[in-house]
Amino acid sequence: MKVHEPPFNPELMEMLDEFVDWFYSIDRSRINLNGSPDSEEKYTSTEWLEESKKIPVNEKGGEGFPKHVYGVDMLMSISPAEYMQRFRKISDELNQWFGSKYCAVQMYYPQNGFMDWHNNGNASGYNILLSHSTTGGGWFRYQDPTDANIITIQDKPGWNIKTGYYGRHDEPRRLVWHCARTYDSERITFGYVIPHKEMWEMMIEDILNVD
Ligand SMILES: [Fe+2]
Repeated sequence: MKVHEPPFNPELMEMLDEFVDWFYSIDRSRINLNGSPDSEEKYTSTEWLEESKKIPVNEKGGEGFPKHVYGVDMLMSISPAEYMQRFRKISDELNQWFGSKYCAVQMYYPQNGFMDWHNNGNASGYNILLSHSTTGGGWFRYQDPTDANIITIQDKPGWNIKTGYYGRHDEPRRLVWHCARTYDSERITFGYVIPHKEMWEMMIEDILNVD
């Protein structure tokens, strides 16, 4: 995974910040969340990573999706209609800006939100993660498939942009196990998975273009 440092494209930031300003002005308790907090941090522990790896690929929980979360994919939530409209609007705006149709997730994590270890082996490809953290009290964690080292990337307040490749189940040396957690910060992630490398590189170029 590569962490990109700001500045980011001002047009993109304006669109994202406008969404965030609106989002943090609404009553978030009306957003229907999935799961519950994991105060012992079981689901982002090394033990849980090893347990998760034991689940066969053809069994529920082994396909690549997260198994436990506290949060919600905003586009999949059962939230008030006016909220849903705005969630769809930012999704459409981003797709238009990137010229893509690949927004995979639009996750909202409340305080103490998390997503357990998973590998997206069923949705592999080149990815772009645009995460917003209110105060920087959260992180993204992954296991480097080349040396098995576990790396935790601490969020910074504001926008955090990471890119990388998530391999398929049949590419063990490129399969990337990952999870995320937040504490006192609320956290939003727009996640894109792009099948074509060239298109992904062009999207990254757009993000970093500040002219
Ligand atoms: Fe994921």
